[in-house]
Order: sequence, then C-alpha cells, then structure tokens
Amino acid sequence: MIIYKRIADIQKRLMDAGAQGLSTGFVPTMGALHSGHISLIAKAKKDTDIVVCSIFVNPMQFNDPEDFEKYPVTIDADIYLLEKAGCTILFLPAVEEIYPEGLKKNVQFKVGFIETILDGKYRPGHFQGVCQVVHRLLEIITPRKIYLGQKDFQQCMVIKKMAAIYFPLLEIIICPTVREISGLAMSSRNKRLTATQKQQASEIFKTLLFIKKHIRPGFLNNLLQTALQNLQAKGFRVDYIAIANAHNLQLLDTWDGKEKTVALIAAFLDEVRLIDNMMISE
Ligand code: PAF
Repeated sequence: MIIYKRIADIQKRLMDAGAQGLSTGFVPTMGALHSGHISLIAKAKKDTDIVVCSIFVNPMQFNDPEDFEKYPVTIDADIYLLEKAGCTILFLPAVEEIYPEGLKKNVQFKVGFIETILDGKYRPGHFQGVCQVVHRLLEIITPRKIYLGQKDFQQCMVIKKMAAIYFPLLEIIICPTVREISGLAMSSRNKRLTATQKQQASEIFKTLLFIKKHIRPGFLNNLLQTALQNLQAKGFRVDYIAIANAHNLQLLDTWDGKEKTVALIAAFLDEVRLIDNMMISE
C-alpha cells in the first residue's frame, strides 16, 4: 500500500492508473478503522482495480468541538489493517491540504429536507460538512465507485443526493452494517466505550429488533414510546427513535403495512453518541 499526503502526488498516480484503463474504488473514512470499514475495502477490492481509502477527521462535520477533540485516532493500527486488507492507496491529507482556504463553508449543498431531520436536527450543519468533504475528496480522487456503510443510513442518502448533482456518473455502493456478536453496530466511537458499556450499547440493536418484531399496521406512537422507555431505562439519553420511509426518509406516525420502512436510533451512553438503524419491513 502506498500512502499519499499530497493531492498532486495521489492525482498523478491515479491519472497513470486511469491511462492504463484501471478502475478506482473509494472508501472515505475518518480512521479508527474496524471490521465495518474493512468490509468496504474488501467489497471495493472485488469490484475495482485500485482501492483508495482516505483517512481524514473532517473538522467541518463536527457540531460539537469536544466530540471532534475526542474522536479516536489510531493511525498505526489503521495502516496495519489496510495493508492486511490489500488496500492499494491510503490518502492521508492534512487539514490544509483539504481546506487550503481555511475552515470555511463555501457552498450550500442542496440536499433538501433530509438534512433537517434526525441527525440533521440534532447535529446542525453536520451533513453540510459531510457533503463538503466528500465533494472535495471525490474531486481529488475521481473514483468510479464509492463504498459507504449502511450504519450511516441518513448520511448515505445525503451523499447520494449530493452526488446526483455533482457526480452523476459515480456509482454508490451501500454495504451492510457489520456487528459485534452482541449485535452492537461497529463504529469508531465504540473505541470510547468500556467493555461493560459495549455490552450495554447492544441494547440499541435489541431495541431495533423489538421494533421490527412488534410493528403492526396503524399508529406507531405506542411502539415508539415503549421502545424509548426501554432504552431510557437501560441508561441511555435518547436523541431520537424513529420509523421512516426507507426510500425518502419521511418520518412516519402511521404505517400502512406495505410501505418499506427503516427504524433509526441515536442515543448517548454516557458522553458517547451512538447511531444505528434496521430495515423493519422490506
Ligand atoms: O462516515 C464517515 O466516516 C464520514 O462522515 C465520512 C463519510 C468519511 C466523511 O468525513
């Protein structure tokens, strides 16, 4: 695996590869890699000739400065995992390389109402920050395909909307969430949890299973209320538990028994914010 820190260097390498007719698959990350990320690398390796992984903790997408400061950084372990997974190129830029004009919002990405609900509501500006960095990375790397994890369901939708405007030829591949044996969704933020907290955090997955098992056509309020009370009783501070249309993320308070739906949760365990989701009717 070759590590590039400079845009000019990675672009030269990718232009040479393009001239040889090789295709590029791109896995954007913020590091602190886990099996979920590695599953994206593995899928990209199957589909494309050159796999580029980026590690960049993007300051523009953190609405909470403490969350940014405490975001886990495990670069040596990340490089080891990427080498082992057969990643071709690691792009490891400094903040100045990505934002040469400083940390400024220069474009308003028109992704519509999905950035105003759920994580968009609780983390104002977050999805604009995600769009800004992913747009920048896509301009630099110009991949044929990008690989994203379904764990970030709303982020996947936002990136799809942004890409449809700016990169219409880009193929977006959404890969399944990878879980611990307990059901806990793999996440870089899990590195901030103790072993006991990790076990406790699997309650989020159990709550999603509960919703999937008990959903019935009609009003959803009682089901969502019970799920909320269960999670609160287990010590979580819940931002949201919601059921939404899986195609457009419109929040639902009733279900017709046919609509394809997804349940989504964001909750704090101590000071660590965790998110997860599950398709509940397909
Ligand atoms: O999901 C993430 O790790 C980040 O939001 C992403 C897509 C790498 C953009 O910084």
